Amino acid sequence: MKKIDYNQLPLENLETSPLTYGSIILNKERFIQVLKEINTLNVLSTIKNRIIVLKDIITHYENDKEGILNIDINGDTISLRRDVLTSELNQILESQTLEKAKYYIKRLENGIQEVKTNKINDINLLRWKEYEEIITDSLWVLDKRDASGAHLAWYWGNFIPQIPHQMMLRYTKKGDWILDSFVGSGTTLIECRRLGRNGIGIELNPEVAQKAKELIEKEQNKDNVVSEIIIGDSRSTDIKQILGKYGIKQAQLLIMHPPYHDIIKFSKDKEDLSNAKNTEEFLKMFGEVIDIQLHI
Ligand SMILES: C[S@@+](CC[C@H](N)C(=O)[O-])C[C@H]1O[C@@H](n2cnc3c(N)ncnc32)[C@H](O)[C@@H]1O
Repeated sequence: MKKIDYNQLPLENLETSPLTYGSIILNKERFIQVLKEINTLNVLSTIKNRIIVLKDIITHYENDKEGILNIDINGDTISLRRDVLTSELNQILESQTLEKAKYYIKRLENGIQEVKTNKINDINLLRWKEYEEIITDSLWVLDKRDASGAHLAWYWGNFIPQIPHQMMLRYTKKGDWILDSFVGSGTTLIECRRLGRNGIGIELNPEVAQKAKELIEKEQNKDNVVSEIIIGDSRSTDIKQILGKYGIKQAQLLIMHPPYHDIIKFSKDKEDLSNAKNTEEFLKMFGEVIDIQLHI
């Protein structure tokens, strides 16, 4: 299984920088010109023949008679993941109709020329297949938990760090605010620092909160984000007031990793959700956290 490299390129550099592995650098202008030319053709088999030539070029550089691999010193280049480009070309080759083939060619051209952003995250939607770091499958298969840096896995019942990591990449932008109502050992806030997100966590157990704070401080803070842990009960902590200190009205992502009732007893504190007397009381307590925090 492919290992996730957390030191790889930041997402926003996707357009301009070479990718980490298996990438190919093309003469952008020439490649777009070739795609445009191909898209003027009106015979499906001729289009496919031209695409076969392109496919051959990206595996056998010496066969480049189109000039798409000619890189001028001042020329504009584009770096693409070779496997993704191959699959885009295959999709054109598998097209059953002229319209479909033209649609895929146009889509490839747009992905090279344009950046399509969105309100929720920093992903360029025209090149989403190329983000090695974001798992786009609905089933997240991870070979092993991330144990780098401050992720010491010392706390019983902590997050696999990849969970908050993936959630933040999908649902937030750099500089956004994340609230974790059951922050425990601070996994979310460590990931916040790595990804340049501000993080506020709430934790009932003061000793756990203290250790989490110390570990979070060990994590580099290159984007100078806020990392704050409030010791308290998530059912009554005034989040509005805490965010207000930073001039923020609301968080963009709420992460909740509560005790799963009494499967793990986190403390003897009666405010602790893991000490709820029965399932009904647990659901009532958890509901109170949701009520107060969804109103921010
Ligand atoms: C499953 S753990 C969270 C682990 C965390 N995601 C991590 O990676 O370390 C649940 C946490 O909720 C805390 N907790 C339980 N009841 C709470 C409450 N009412 N308010 C705030 N925290 C609470 C527990 O002390 C425990 O640390």
